[in-house]
Amino acid sequence: MSSSVLEPPIHRARKAVIPVAGLGTRLLPASKAIPKEMITVVDRPAIQYVVEEAAEAGLSDVLLVTNRGKGAISDHFDSVPDLESALEASGKDALLASVRASSGLAHIHEVRQGEAKGLGHAVNQARDHVGGEPFAVLLGDDFNDPRDPLLDTMLDVQAERGGSVVALLEVEPETISLYGAAVVEEAPEAGRGADVVRVLSAVEKPPVQEAPSNLAIIGRYVLHPAVFDVLDRTEPGKGGEIQLTDALMELATMSTQEGGGVHGVVFRGRRYDTGAKLDYLKAIVQLGADRDDLGVEFMAWLREFVQTYEEPSERLRSGFAD
Ligand code: UTP
Repeated sequence: MSSSVLEPPIHRARKAVIPVAGLGTRLLPASKAIPKEMITVVDRPAIQYVVEEAAEAGLSDVLLVTNRGKGAISDHFDSVPDLESALEASGKDALLASVRASSGLAHIHEVRQGEAKGLGHAVNQARDHVGGEPFAVLLGDDFNDPRDPLLDTMLDVQAERGGSVVALLEVEPETISLYGAAVVEEAPEAGRGADVVRVLSAVEKPPVQEAPSNLAIIGRYVLHPAVFDVLDRTEPGKGGEIQLTDALMELATMSTQEGGGVHGVVFRGRRYDTGAKLDYLKAIVQLGADRDDLGVEFMAWLREFVQTYEEPSERLRSGFAD
């Protein structure tokens, strides 16, 4: 391990790594030819919400970890002079602003994973770009509501406490097998009350009856660069993939001087997951309902739809069956 990796970080992380190289099997067949991160959520691809979240937290340097067939993701953040001139010439100012919004969000960089060998392996591809600084990792298919900032708190906790920070969500105990489950204790030294805990250990996707807690590790991390050396020696784990959770377990047992120590920030805000079908449907309804330009009309329709859906004869009369 190089000595720069061992120095405690002084500043907040400045770079975001967004792994988007996964196979996206839970959204098939939609994700067969289109990356799941490009699937539309109301009026923009899921990945744009994720990059907006990074930019909102001051992370203007974004590294996408991509793979074959993922080119549309980086294209989405380029400017498109032909399209922009056409919109400008026809006076479509609102559309022009919406097109430009994605290209002005962040400096986008790209590195390829080559083969989807797991989230830990994807994160390890960021080593050269990140160097010896702490950095944030945002998964490309879920995002948090801008009214409930999480990443900002995580970046502060990491800058104050060093080591690494994960986001934790209390989930229904029977769903914990979909996540990494954390073993935690109170962290009075963090001075932020019950929302910041110390992570002692973690288990990737445990069977429900063996889960150590119902605190799920969700898709936001701020990692000490010591994680790269740990990932180098992390063997494939659950599902034959190199798991970031396994590397976090090792970081949790390492000393602060070695870049170890893991804190968890318990998130109690609104979160949207677009990587699985039911969650994707829920995200569209929640975000659509909140939109200034669509919400009122959409909710009026939705209320009527739900009412008539439960009364099939009414449904036929009202034309919803069409
Ligand atoms: P997921 O667990 O959602 O995996 O990965 P996935 O393969 O994309 O989707 P499913 O489970 O088959 O439906 C979480 C994030 O990590 C990325 C994914 O692109 C996603 O944003 N990832 C995962 C990689 O970049 N590389 C990998 O090898 C695995």
